[in-house]
Amino acid sequence: MQVVTTLEELRRARRNLAEPVGFVPTMGYLHEGHLSLVRMAREECASVVVSIFVNPTQFGPHEDYQQYPRDIPRDLALLEKEGVDLVWTPTPDIMYPEDFQTWVTVEQLTVPLEGKHRPGHFRGVTTVVTKLFNAVQPQRAYFGQKDAQQARVIQQMVRDLNMPIAIIVGPTIREPDGLALSSRNTYLNPQERRAATVLYRALQAAKDAFERGERDAETLRRIMREVLTQEPLARVQYVSCAHPDTLEELEGPVEAALLSLAVFIGKTRLIDNMLVGLGRDTWPPYIPEG
Ligand code: PAF
Repeated sequence: MQVVTTLEELRRARRNLAEPVGFVPTMGYLHEGHLSLVRMAREECASVVVSIFVNPTQFGPHEDYQQYPRDIPRDLALLEKEGVDLVWTPTPDIMYPEDFQTWVTVEQLTVPLEGKHRPGHFRGVTTVVTKLFNAVQPQRAYFGQKDAQQARVIQQMVRDLNMPIAIIVGPTIREPDGLALSSRNTYLNPQERRAATVLYRALQAAKDAFERGERDAETLRRIMREVLTQEPLARVQYVSCAHPDTLEELEGPVEAALLSLAVFIGKTRLIDNMLVGLGRDTWPPYIPEG
């Protein structure tokens, strides 16, 4: 496994990789969710590239950029075991040199949900992912359903900008008690960790109701809120039952939906989601034409 930092090293190493190249962009502090994407890439592609970069531009001024957990030696050991070919660990000055002034924005899809509560977040994500894609030039890239809106936004961006990259979405990986894996789970103390299962329980209650025939969007949101209010450590930021393509909030009877929520457990903000009515647990892959 080769580990590179500069753009020049990355480009040199990239030239020697067999294609198709599968790419898993990460912010490091890897867990089974990331590793499951790496395994998908390993199975489907001749070479696998992983980037580790905590991207400052996707964090708001009062968010956890400084605090975000980092452990590159541990990450590299995990990636080596998965048979990754190349790891790129750029620094902030490589990604954002002085006088950086070009941004990529996806419009409507970034307005609701996370976009509403984290202004500027998706502009940072789409810009850094574009830069990572330009440098790595993968044929396939892998994202987790856990960040459902992010995956949907990246698929839209790739389509709109004619990037010749398939975007594959891997399932959310959960702890045995249902908590979705996230690097931010490390912020939780033992009491908060127990409380954090409420996100899964709320989503599962609404999904069960949907499967029993409940179709009213507001009732599905109410079911999630009712479960969440039973957990004293939970402070709800949003609960949503949204259209799976537009991500706009639904009213009345729904055929299919993205159920999603953002909840503070203590100071830690957690998100999670489930798809209903689509016959699948993840967004379908986006495969470019040609
Ligand atoms: O999902 C993440 O870890 C990040 O948002 C990503 C896609 C690596 C961009 O920084």
